[in-house]
Amino acid sequence: MTYSQALAQAFDIIRRTIPKMGTDRPAIGRSDLTYERCHDSHWVDGFWSGQLWLAYAETGDEVFLEAARLQRPYFIARLDRPESHDHDLGFLYSLSLVAEYKLTGDQDARLGALRAADSLARRYNVRGRFIRAWNSWANGEHNRGRIIIDSMENLGLLFWAAQQAGQPRYRDIAVAHAQTTINTIVRADGSTYHSFVFDPQTGTPVRGETVQGYADESCWSRGQSWGIHGFALAYCYTGDEQFRATAVRLADYALAHLPDDRVPYWDYLLPDGAPRYRDSSAGAIMAAGLFLLADLLGSGAEAALYRQAARAILDSLLAGYTTFDHPQAEGLLTQGASHVAQGYANNMLPYGDYFLIEALLRAQGRTVFFW
Ligand code: GLY
Repeated sequence: MTYSQALAQAFDIIRRTIPKMGTDRPAIGRSDLTYERCHDSHWVDGFWSGQLWLAYAETGDEVFLEAARLQRPYFIARLDRPESHDHDLGFLYSLSLVAEYKLTGDQDARLGALRAADSLARRYNVRGRFIRAWNSWANGEHNRGRIIIDSMENLGLLFWAAQQAGQPRYRDIAVAHAQTTINTIVRADGSTYHSFVFDPQTGTPVRGETVQGYADESCWSRGQSWGIHGFALAYCYTGDEQFRATAVRLADYALAHLPDDRVPYWDYLLPDGAPRYRDSSAGAIMAAGLFLLADLLGSGAEAALYRQAARAILDSLLAGYTTFDHPQAEGLLTQGASHVAQGYANNMLPYGDYFLIEALLRAQGRTVFFW
């Protein structure tokens, strides 16, 4: 299957799912390849919208535009529910209101996305130079001083808002958070902690921990993929070589730890006897990140290497992990592992679907980018 055939198949699945999805959003796949819908404040809410905007950008088909616009009231209304805001505002608003503004110039979308960026900036801990990840205080005081690698993807909203609103503070916060992530979450060998805990009062780094990976000292593969894509993204906005170099280090670690078929297991350091689920979403995010990184490295040998590695992952996803033969499927990729410790593995995941499309577009030289 060529990449353009794969994109056409993906867009057909999205097209046929639009009437079923309506104003809802996919959360996690069921075994019959339909999707459970999101509850009212999910971190994954933006990925369906992002797929619709990518499909509209590529095809110009107004079916996708209308479906994407059906999502807008949800994101506007959520701005007035600050209790539903955490560091994932970037995932939510880059792929909804920022995407809409970039493709249509809609001013209400722009203003809504700027409000989301402001809410994200208010999570900044000045002493620790980090953006707090989560709100739940369920595991003690931990979350008051917790960052996670995923947050690298949320920085795009701040970089974009800094340009749009002429607010260098947003950019300063994003740069500081990215540097703090390098200093704490990124290990010397290029692997990553999922999370790092700080003293929220003094900002002193305390220790690395996992939440969704196998162990504190292991390397959660989707987190590694967020880091590859996220540090490449930080380089896009800043041109700061330390961020591109970090994306390269993370990519090299992940590439050295991929299994033969190039689709990651859910953790790169699984001991014998641990469950060996794949995480197709980690593969799709990594492929998109490697294509982005290759574009940022230009046309030399290093860029060619990352482009080839990205194609190998994409080819394997297309050969063994798609839903394309299932006429009832509402998503695109099988075998995502959202949270193994909580029993969530072997599911379709909306972020796997979104990044499959982003990777397929980049593989063909398209550079449409909402982050
Ligand atoms: N950002 C949460 C996850 O990747 O599961």
